[in-house]
Amino acid sequence: TTAPTYDNILLSNPAPGVTLITLNRPKALNALSSPLFTELNAALRDAATDDSVGAVVLTGSDKAFAAGADIKEMMNKEFAEVYKSDFLAHWTEVTKFRKPIVAAVSGYALGGGCELAMMCDIILASPTAVFGQPEINLGVIPGAGGTQRLTHAIGKSRAMEIVLTGKNFSAQDAAAWGLVSRVVEEGSVVDEAVKVAGQIAKKGRVAVQSAKEGVNAAYELSLNEGLHVERRLFHQLFATNDQKIGMKAFAEKKKPEWTHK
Ligand code: CAA
Repeated sequence: TTAPTYDNILLSNPAPGVTLITLNRPKALNALSSPLFTELNAALRDAATDDSVGAVVLTGSDKAFAAGADIKEMMNKEFAEVYKSDFLAHWTEVTKFRKPIVAAVSGYALGGGCELAMMCDIILASPTAVFGQPEINLGVIPGAGGTQRLTHAIGKSRAMEIVLTGKNFSAQDAAAWGLVSRVVEEGSVVDEAVKVAGQIAKKGRVAVQSAKEGVNAAYELSLNEGLHVERRLFHQLFATNDQKIGMKAFAEKKKPEWTHK
């Protein structure tokens, strides 16, 4: 099979088990057009079914992770069209991807760019990263999770201030508020994200996917329901080879060789 070719993203394999997806519309600061998202979704579908892929890193350029949805594509759209086609609904495919995605954010992550980063499982930020939901300045509001995921991540008062004023916030603020897991040295954000993804890719895939499912349940469910899901996922892992392998290796002071089964 030949690898698909894309116009708006680049694909590479920077470490064992890691797919690196680089948004690549440099002239538009990686504005998230429909063709770009169609390609991103296709690349994720391939990564989902490719057994050799354990984790994905999503990044942009030094200047921009992504400066938002493509304003020039949106500007002449009408209500009936966006409503009937459920415009932006296809963006949610990213959140259905069941392997971990690490976002490596450098430069602008604005509007849909911030929202796309928030759809990922882990966000690492360069000190140059600039986050924001500036949609209010365009006469609209965030349309891909900015009023929801940002509020969950940083709390109501801060989210209200960001969404209502449209002002940007820094990588340092994003780390202090818990939106990103850490700020790394300038120029190293992709390497650091590949390192994290590489560590994850070395684990047993069934346990990794179960862990992601468990943490995500914390966003949707009450504490009791979430704890129930967690315990059931935990129980299920006793049906895997990897549970036997991992615990036996510990007892024998050996390194586990995962079978991903
Ligand atoms: N859509 C389309 N094109 C964009 C874009 C976007 N979101 N962001 C940048 N571009 C284009 C610019 O139009 C410009 O193109 P031309 O060279 O053809 O004029 C090119 O990228 C470079 O941008 P600038 O010249 O503006 O670069 P700058 O360094 O002066 O400014 C910036 C950078 C502050 C990020 C500025 O580009 C900007 O404000 N961009 C828009 C940010 C924004 O409003 N994002 C939210 C979009 S709405 C949304 O995302 C809805 C949602 O919730 C899903």
